[in-house]
Amino acid sequence: MIINLSETNSLVGDWMSEIRDAEVQTDRMRFRRNLERLGEVAAYEISKTLTYVDNEVQTPLGTANCRVIRQQPILATILRAGLALHQGLVNYFDKADHAYISAYRKHNRDGTFEISLEYVSCPPLDEQVLILSDPMLATGASMVKTIDHLVEFGKPAHIHIVTAIACTIGIEYVQRHADANISIWAGDIDDELTAKGYIVPGLGDAGDLAFGTK
Ligand code: URA
Repeated sequence: MIINLSETNSLVGDWMSEIRDAEVQTDRMRFRRNLERLGEVAAYEISKTLTYVDNEVQTPLGTANCRVIRQQPILATILRAGLALHQGLVNYFDKADHAYISAYRKHNRDGTFEISLEYVSCPPLDEQVLILSDPMLATGASMVKTIDHLVEFGKPAHIHIVTAIACTIGIEYVQRHADANISIWAGDIDDELTAKGYIVPGLGDAGDLAFGTK
């Protein structure tokens, strides 16, 4: 299932417009905050797909019948670019366990690149709902490599990928290669990739815009 969060009229369109706008992007705090807001909306939308149980609470005036989430999802993100989106998800799923993965492109002299995975910290994932955030789903190679690595910690019941911009090529790659029940929630979807694997029109380098040039 692919969900483009810009498809229906909502404030997501305003945030995506600012996230993409080269003039507005220079405000690093605003760039991160817009990604965080997108993470919050994705968290709310994903929360509608989760399971809830009855919960009776005593108010100062009586008894209220409420519905509460049965189990919080596991929140995973790819360092470092995913941190702002991840914060938005954490703001909503505030009792969740977290997973962190460092995945980056190791560039070769001939212009190609390989995905290098280094730091991984992950709780058991068997039968859990996993939400994995990364602002750019470009070729899909780092997402698939990350998922392949994470499923060594157990097979999740469902994986929700949350991204600011997904490229159709990356979406198709994930659908072809990831052996899991997956939904992709994107702030917007673009069709083109450059030879170096940047999304067009995209937004540029999300990690550098959020945290500075490496
Ligand atoms: N990562 C980015 O930050 N931007 C892209 O366009 C692709 C991958």
